[in-house]
Amino acid sequence: MATLEEVKISAKNNMSICKMCKSCNGETCRGWTPGPGGKGSGSGFVRNVAKLKQVTLNMRVLREDAEVNSTFDFFGKELAAPIMAAPIANVKINYGSSVDEITYLNALGYGCKQAGLLAFLGDGANREAFEMPLNLHRELPDYTVMTIKPWLLEQVFAKMSEVKACSPKAIAMDVDAAGLILLKQMGVPVAYKTVEDLKMIKEFANVPLIVKGVMTIEDAQAAIDAGADGIVVSNHGGRVLDDCASTIEVLEKISLFVNKRCQVFVDGGFRSGADVFKAIALGADAVLIGRPFSHMAIGGLQEGVALYAGKLIEEFKECMRMTGCITLSDIRRNCVNVDF
Ligand SMILES: Cc1cc2nc3c(=O)[nH]c(=O)nc-3n(C[C@H](O)[C@H](O)[C@H](O)COP(=O)(O)O)c2cc1C
Repeated sequence: MATLEEVKISAKNNMSICKMCKSCNGETCRGWTPGPGGKGSGSGFVRNVAKLKQVTLNMRVLREDAEVNSTFDFFGKELAAPIMAAPIANVKINYGSSVDEITYLNALGYGCKQAGLLAFLGDGANREAFEMPLNLHRELPDYTVMTIKPWLLEQVFAKMSEVKACSPKAIAMDVDAAGLILLKQMGVPVAYKTVEDLKMIKEFANVPLIVKGVMTIEDAQAAIDAGADGIVVSNHGGRVLDDCASTIEVLEKISLFVNKRCQVFVDGGFRSGADVFKAIALGADAVLIGRPFSHMAIGGLQEGVALYAGKLIEEFKECMRMTGCITLSDIRRNCVNVDF
């Protein structure tokens, strides 16, 4: 059984682009897109990680002992904790991975399943980039969520038909991918989506729809107007707009505005169980974690993913214990301090 440190060393050896830094904070890979970094100056990625450090936890121990319950209900599927792997596609181009895409995807999906979590899967410019995650989704519909790119509507519907045939728990769309450099370079048509477009997509999906890439209350309202069942407060890991706000900075405002009208998920810079706890305290229902999960898949396959997932769950439960939270609903705003 490998240790997390051994998996990290192996990940470093298995990637020619990503440097597997001690802290995955976007500094070394500023502007490396395609690559693992943030767009332009890379400040979006850097800010996501840095601002999370400005949230601290309030310890509360003078109480009776009780077993904490970290389980989370994801549209009818119980997860061990409100933690999911974010969709990350094309590990060859982005990381210089020596592990091929199918092996990586299987490691991610089966590793999350082993730990009682769930993985979002990405989509790409060509047929193969859609088929590889779709095949895994067909095998693990309860433990994976397909994230379709905002293609032109005809193509969205064609891809959704195939996803629907897998009996999905939910379908996601990364609407912010309308700004992706790689797709632009490949000349593949992605498009901004209106409320009317999203309404048609939701109607066609006929399962919970998750809109990924919401950073303002205006876009949260648009997603709700379209009937979205969930949003992901996300700036795509800082990869679509340079100098954008960090996700933790806008999370509380957006969750208060949404006020339980749909689920609120968040991603961008989350690395530990404590980071996840901070997001829940600021109103998120669950957190997606991107780059570290892909590192673990590339370095340690299914075992590496399950190892990291297990560590996240334990860290999160420890935060619950030490802040006096027995269930997720006990994690409230007064459990954290925000210094921004
Ligand atoms: C190399 C790479 C590839 C990505 N591919 C996708 C994708 O295919 N679909 C998608 O919705 N998001 C994609 N993302 C964004 C992630 O899902 C997520 O929003 C972001 O990575 C979260 O930040 P973190 O990596 O700091 O945790 C990608 C991110 C990276 C770094």
